[in-house]
Parts: sequence; C-alpha cells; structure tokens
Amino acid sequence: MNDIMIRPAIDQDAPAVASLHAASWRDTYANILSADFLSDGVDADRRAVWSQRLSAPTADQFVNVAYDPDGRLLGFICCYRDADPVWGSLVDNLHVAAATRGSGLGERLLRDAARLLAPSASHSGLHLWVFEANTAALRFYTRLGGRVVETGSSENPAAGGKTVLRVHWPDVTQLA
Ligand SMILES: CC(C)(COP(=O)(O)OP(=O)(O)OC[C@H]1O[C@@H](n2cnc3c(N)ncnc32)[C@H](O)[C@@H]1OP(=O)(O)O)[C@@H](O)C(=O)NCCC(=O)NCCS
Repeated sequence: MNDIMIRPAIDQDAPAVASLHAASWRDTYANILSADFLSDGVDADRRAVWSQRLSAPTADQFVNVAYDPDGRLLGFICCYRDADPVWGSLVDNLHVAAATRGSGLGERLLRDAARLLAPSASHSGLHLWVFEANTAALRFYTRLGGRVVETGSSENPAAGGKTVLRVHWPDVTQLA
C-alpha cells in the first residue's frame, strides 16, 4: 500500500481510467446494468466520458489516480466540488481494481479527496449515489460514517431505473 502513488489525473490517464471503470462496472454491476450494455457498449461509453472529462476538465472537477510502482492503475476517484446546494460536493466515481479491493486503497482515495475538498469547497457536505444492490460498497461507505438520506432511481439507461441510495456526510472534515 505504501508504494502506491496517488496524484491528480492528467489527459494521458484517460484510456487507463476508462478501462478500469469499464472492468469495474462489468464485475460489480453484472446484476445491475443490462447484459447487452456490459458486453457491448460499456468500453466505448467510458472511453468517451473519460476522454472528455480529462481533456477539458471543468473547474469544479477533480480526479485522483492511484498507480503501483510498475505503472498499473489500481484505482481512481472523481469528485465535483459544491455540486449540490443541499448535499454539497459529489463523489461521482470511486473504483479500485478487483485484485486490490479490500486492502484500504478505496478508503485512502476517499479520505484524500475529502482532505482536498475540505478547504476549497464552500459547502461542508459530501454525498454520492450507490446502487442499493451494491451492498459491499454501501457497507464500505457506512463504515466510514456516511448515512443513507434518500432513495432514487438510477438515470443510467442501462440500469432500468434500479434503486440508488444517496449517502451523505454532513461535514467533509469527518473524513479528512
Ligand atoms: C467500494 C470500493 C471502492 C472500496 O474500496 P476498497 O479498496 O475495496 O475498500 P477498503 O479496502 O478501503 O475497505 C474495505 C471495505 O470495502 C468493502 N468492499 C466493497 N467491495 C469490495 C470488494 N469487492 N472486495 C473487498 N472489499 C470490498 C469491504 O466490504 C470492506 O468493508 P468492511 O470492512 O466494512 O467489510 C472497492 O471495493 C470497489 O472498487 N468496488 C467495486 C466498485 C464499486 O462498487 N464502487 C463504488 C461505486 S458507488
């Protein structure tokens, strides 16, 4: 864990981030997103999203990437500062490579992000949406002090309106 380097993402990280994102959706969302989308479409979808996000980052966006010493991408987090007037900054994506899960990297990425957001956001809150069916991730967030405050339906067309839960930390410094 100590030899993992975490740094802000740059344009050149887009292909690796897209590939990890697609792989993570494929294994974690196998029973959540449609089989058609996961077998055909998810790679191009994620490539388009990440090439756009990292070539033209918005002022409120930040993305951190974690690499091992051999240059393999092990995880990433994407946040939007002050995204919501009620719930505060948004963690839009947090993914750790399957072989590295459970070793503390997800917690480190989330706490690092909270440390960056704490002094720069004007809203103290932090929130994210997690699929109700993603029970392992939900347990991870609640263990770190997040509280489910709201239920909704996923806007991802491949999710067929499956239930998502909003997880909230009223004060990002709780995590920092
Ligand atoms: C959720 C996730 C980011 C957590 O990162 P991590 O590095 O595995 O987590 P840590 O090692 O810091 O903490 C371990 C915790 O994560 C949970 N966890 C979630 N998914 C896990 C998985 N597939 N394997 C192992 N642990 C997992 C464990 O249950 C553990 O919580 P617990 O101690 O309360 O049981 C990571 O497991 C992941 O990328 N999962 C797949 C993608 C995903 O669900 N992303 C979140 C979308 S909202």
